[in-house]
Amino acid sequence: MINIAIDGHVGSGKSTLAKGLAKKLGFDMFDTGAIYRGLACEFMKRGLGEPNQEKIENFINSIDLKIEFIDDIEHVYVNGFDYTPYLRLEETSVMAGKVSPFIILRKKVLEIQREFAKTHNVVMEGRDIGTEVLPNADYKFFVTASEEVRAKRRFDQMKGKPNAPTYEDVLRDLRERDFRDEHREVSPLKPAKDSIIIDSSNQTLDETIQKCLEIIKINEQNLKKVF
Ligand code: DC
Repeated sequence: MINIAIDGHVGSGKSTLAKGLAKKLGFDMFDTGAIYRGLACEFMKRGLGEPNQEKIENFINSIDLKIEFIDDIEHVYVNGFDYTPYLRLEETSVMAGKVSPFIILRKKVLEIQREFAKTHNVVMEGRDIGTEVLPNADYKFFVTASEEVRAKRRFDQMKGKPNAPTYEDVLRDLRERDFRDEHREVSPLKPAKDSIIIDSSNQTLDETIQKCLEIIKINEQNLKKVF
């Protein structure tokens, strides 16, 4: 199986790159944040309030977690319930940020991620894929772009929507998230020693995909590795 790890900063375009690469290569694209989001949904559904060590231990010992791809869409099931439509809600994002630092919960997610990578050609995207989840991935990319470019992309996405933030708000929020991601105790965001750094500041998505494909040099027809 061929495993490609993609990590990077918020707003760097890593998800779009992972999707684009997976499509070109005919691989599955595994968004690992979706698992933390699915677990956060179940945690909220149970009305458990603010997470702490004891609650998370009981919680993680009582769940059955499954990921399934249906028509190229990643579905996250917890105890048989498909949380896919709820993954992007704001409250889910907030709770995912609170449950994801617990090591016992990350261990469970790690097992699922590794098992999937063992049995699939996959582009796996997250924060700690190259460093912790798949240290032996065939290819590792760390995607970044300048703060200003990332903030501008996000600002443009939200412009015109109700309660859209100002550019300055977006930039401040992005700096805070970078700081949190890079300085958290558990699995901080950082390139693996053998990651290839992709700076997408001055590149279109197509150029970025092309650049990664050249590095991977996988023959798109037969997926044979050529080096
Ligand atoms: O990438 P995202 O916004 O969907 O991630 C959701 C949450 O999960 C976010 O708080 C970071 C966390 N996460 C993580 O800790 N490790 C990963 N590999 C992916 C996401």
